[in-house]
Amino acid sequence: MARIALITGGMGGLGEAICIKMAALGYQVVTTYSPGNTKAEQWLASMKEQGYDFRAYPCDVASFESAQECIAQITREMGPVDVLVNNAGITRDMTFKKMDKVNWDAVIKTNLDSVFNMTKQVCDGMMERGWGRIINISSVNGQKGAFGQTNYSAAKAGMHGFTKALALEVARKGVTVNTISPGYIGTKMVMAIPNEVLESKILPQIPMGRLGKPEEVAGLVAYLASDEAAFLTGANIAINGGQHMH
Ligand code: CAA
Ligand code: NAP
Repeated sequence: MARIALITGGMGGLGEAICIKMAALGYQVVTTYSPGNTKAEQWLASMKEQGYDFRAYPCDVASFESAQECIAQITREMGPVDVLVNNAGITRDMTFKKMDKVNWDAVIKTNLDSVFNMTKQVCDGMMERGWGRIINISSVNGQKGAFGQTNYSAAKAGMHGFTKALALEVARKGVTVNTISPGYIGTKMVMAIPNEVLESKILPQIPMGRLGKPEEVAGLVAYLASDEAAFLTGANIAINGGQHMH
């Protein structure tokens, strides 16, 4: 039986590449989309045309109840989740001076609470079955901080604290928990940065002189999900073109 891989936010730039990579490796791929996303059917149809038979369920990852309902339905209709990729995320960039509670909460709930909300639904089952992979998509900006991102950097750094603590608790049960911290990847999240900021402040900081490709991150997700990566847990793997080394 093919393993089931659940990728949150699979219709976004990074998520789509991860879905495609995992499908190519033989996983049964399931993804989530925001309940308000009106393009979900269209995305599924276009993937189908390209030969990918993905399943997708509405889920607000910021809501515990929504995560609970979504994963209960996936489990009923498809089976238990073997690989969880916590990928859904948002930015609400502004200097701390302008940061209000709404934009602080939105980012913490969507990027950090979501990791609890989703992982909580699948972790016990993975331990009982003696195999599981939890992969958290953080960011270079959780490691180094970023101008205009107190909310996002805090959430992304928090993800890795979660990874390390949970990795200790599940290490003897065949379950690994890891963080990937991508640098700037050419998706709509990065395209939302004002062009002059991207050109003058960000690209010059990347020794490779280019943005990363979603497929480059997807390859790393695939490795962490594999049996070969069984001894790798609690790690935070940077993939950022040399922008931040530590
Ligand atoms: N470093 C230093 N100074 C910066 C700066 C930076 N990166 N960005 C802006 N500034 C400075 C401006 O030069 C300006 O300075 P002066 O007042 O001296 O002219 C000042 O900050 C502007 O401050 P404002 O409060 O008026 O801010 P703003 O409304 O112009 O917008 C901002 C500020 C929202 C932070 C905007 O610059 C921005 O969007 N920056 C990009 C932030 C970023 O990198 N986000 C990453 C998104 S991608 C992502 O998150 C994916 C991932 O994980 C990598
Ligand atoms: P993206 O194209 O904007 O995709 C984000 C995805 O998250 C979308 O599919 C979106 O789904 C989903 N999402 C947002 N809020 C959600 C919610 N409340 N419930 C369910 N789904 C929600 O961004 P991306 O660049 O692919 O980013 C993916 C992840 O990588 C994020 O966690 C991001 O922080 C991280 N990352 C990105 C970069 C980069 O440079 N691009 C770098 C480092 C880390 P809907 O469209 O259905 O709302």
